[in-house]
Amino acid sequence: MPAADWADARDCILLDRTVAYLNTGSFGPLLRCVFDRATAFRRRLAEEPMDFLLRCVPALLWDARERLAGFLGGDRRRLVLTTNASVAINLVASSLRLDAPGEILLTDHEYETMHWCWERAAQRLGLGLRTFSLPTLAIEPSEIVEAAAAAMSRSTRLFFFSHVLSSTGMILPARELCAEARRRGIVTVVDGAHAPAFTDLNLADIPCDFYAGNGHKWLLAPTGTGFLYLGPGNEDRLRPMHVSWGYHPPPGSGPPDAPDQFGSTPRLRRLECEGTRDICPWLTVPEAIDFQATLGHDKIRTRMRELTDYVRQRLVDWRGLVLATPAHRELRGAMTAFRLPDDTNAEGLRHGLWERFRVEAPVIERPDRLLIRVSTHFYNTETEVERLAEALGELLRG
Ligand SMILES: Cc1ncc(COP(=O)(O)O)c(C=O)c1O
Repeated sequence: MPAADWADARDCILLDRTVAYLNTGSFGPLLRCVFDRATAFRRRLAEEPMDFLLRCVPALLWDARERLAGFLGGDRRRLVLTTNASVAINLVASSLRLDAPGEILLTDHEYETMHWCWERAAQRLGLGLRTFSLPTLAIEPSEIVEAAAAAMSRSTRLFFFSHVLSSTGMILPARELCAEARRRGIVTVVDGAHAPAFTDLNLADIPCDFYAGNGHKWLLAPTGTGFLYLGPGNEDRLRPMHVSWGYHPPPGSGPPDAPDQFGSTPRLRRLECEGTRDICPWLTVPEAIDFQATLGHDKIRTRMRELTDYVRQRLVDWRGLVLATPAHRELRGAMTAFRLPDDTNAEGLRHGLWERFRVEAPVIERPDRLLIRVSTHFYNTETEVERLAEALGELLRG
């Protein structure tokens, strides 16, 4: 696609033009069409809450669920909508029952709060919690599968891992990892916080028990858009975190999987309903999906690859940066991380990037190292990468 078309696409996003926003990995900015749609829904909610919530929402919600399930390659009757990936993972960790004694197995690169989530679950269930070391610079995906398989034991009850690592952007071979666990009778919970619109996600292809994800990052849907997918055979293993409408289906309700009058199904609504709240973000998911479909998913992926390659060739060895994301095409996407020199002052760097250069790229503190992570979505530019390089050139000067 010519550069001018990417510039047009960028104009469709509510970006602050003074900022080089290289952090879709934390939060995506909003598409104008999505913002407008969400605002129109909120206006209707403000004007006539009864009409909006009771008469308009059900059809809109079912449509959003169908569209998101189609985009993710899953079954709409298994898609629980949530506020974000944290809520989705907490939903599993707070109610799933597992046999004790035994252990919950995680990689040593999980998002910190999700690690805590399993720490609490392990306490609740009387299980141990064990991490194993991921080969973070793996040359081949099979090295990761081998490391995970070697870490699984007879006492492993549940395996939790990120489809895309938050720290380095490495993509884990989710299908093979889940298959290894399933062969051993181990429950799998996949943290796909970054995966939708970052990977070519197809849930039907991943033999997991639970898969959690976000719409507010790479899909560019609003904050407040997340989901939990219930893998086959796991439809009735969870209990809602909040008891609300849906806990007992209303008299005369249809079968658990039948669409109900709320835009859900009795089974999904039991987990989804949290009382009165703003679900407008969910309803705008179709706009976000349509936008990227119109640009073309293959074109977007090609553009992301171009920018990622640009980041790598521009920043490798620049001012002592060392690449921390593997080179293999299957193991990397649009987030590239670099190890910072050991004498880097993390707080000083964060401050300088923002105050002096208006660059957004997170400085991530890992137990043994400091990383900087660069997200490059289709709306980013080579010029922004240059601005980051210039900023690092100044700020890491020693
Ligand atoms: C791997 C991973 N898991 C979970 C989360 C939590 O996402 P959220 O705050 O949207 O729930 C993040 C956030 O960046 C993440 O990177």
